[in-house]
Amino acid sequence: MKKNNKILLILTSILLLLLLLLIFFRMNIVNENFQDSQKSFSEIIKKYESVNSQFGTDKSATHSYDTIYEKLFLPFRNKKITMLEIGLFSGADLLAFDEYFKDVELYGIDITDKYLMPELKNYDNINIFIGDATKENTVNHFNKLYDIIIEDGSHLAEHQIQHFKDYNKYVKQGGIYIIEDVDEKYLEKVKMEISKTAMDNNFILEVYDLRKNKNRYDDILLVYKKK
Ligand SMILES: C[S@@+](CC[C@H](N)C(=O)[O-])C[C@H]1O[C@@H](n2cnc3c(N)ncnc32)[C@H](O)[C@@H]1O
Repeated sequence: MKKNNKILLILTSILLLLLLLLIFFRMNIVNENFQDSQKSFSEIIKKYESVNSQFGTDKSATHSYDTIYEKLFLPFRNKKITMLEIGLFSGADLLAFDEYFKDVELYGIDITDKYLMPELKNYDNINIFIGDATKENTVNHFNKLYDIIIEDGSHLAEHQIQHFKDYNKYVKQGGIYIIEDVDEKYLEKVKMEISKTAMDNNFILEVYDLRKNKNRYDDILLVYKKK
């Protein structure tokens, strides 16, 4: 190889190396900025309470679920996921989920659309069915597998038990089924009556007793994780 060619080769290699280093550092900076711009679930959910307190969600103002959800939702945040909520009221929390998760297909069931925010209709990834969640046609309506199911319906112990028995088959492996607002009076009953179905279907139970936070008798979450 001629001396000039050799110098050219060395210079090109150095330039290439510098270019690669530049790309690498830029990617890191972009990534850091992206992480910084990601708001926590607590921050996001609060927005959907304060926008319109009458029609907002009760997940962090009335209850204390935000910090637990922060932890439970994190592994799903940047994945493509599906999520079902039974009991929507205004559906403001669906907007919070949409904002928090990077790529989420949301499904919701409520017995009435009386309080639903009309703007939910503008979201392609939000699918709502109006029907009684205890009825077979409602249970089978979406017929999908979900990463996360939140049961926030009537809060009656018998419905909490029945819903788990009806909807647990729709939880993906590695997914979670959450029962909100379990009344302390029925906590043991709900846990006991669900336990066989949970065990037979490979769920592990985590109980989050948050009653002390806001001095509420029903600030209890039952979280069933599917192995
Ligand atoms: C506490 S609110 C839901 C709040 C909402 N998930 C949030 O975090 O803002 C309970 C909802 O459950 C609905 N509900 C009660 N019984 C039901 C049933 N059998 N089937 C479907 N929805 C039901 C009510 O209409 C009400 O909108």
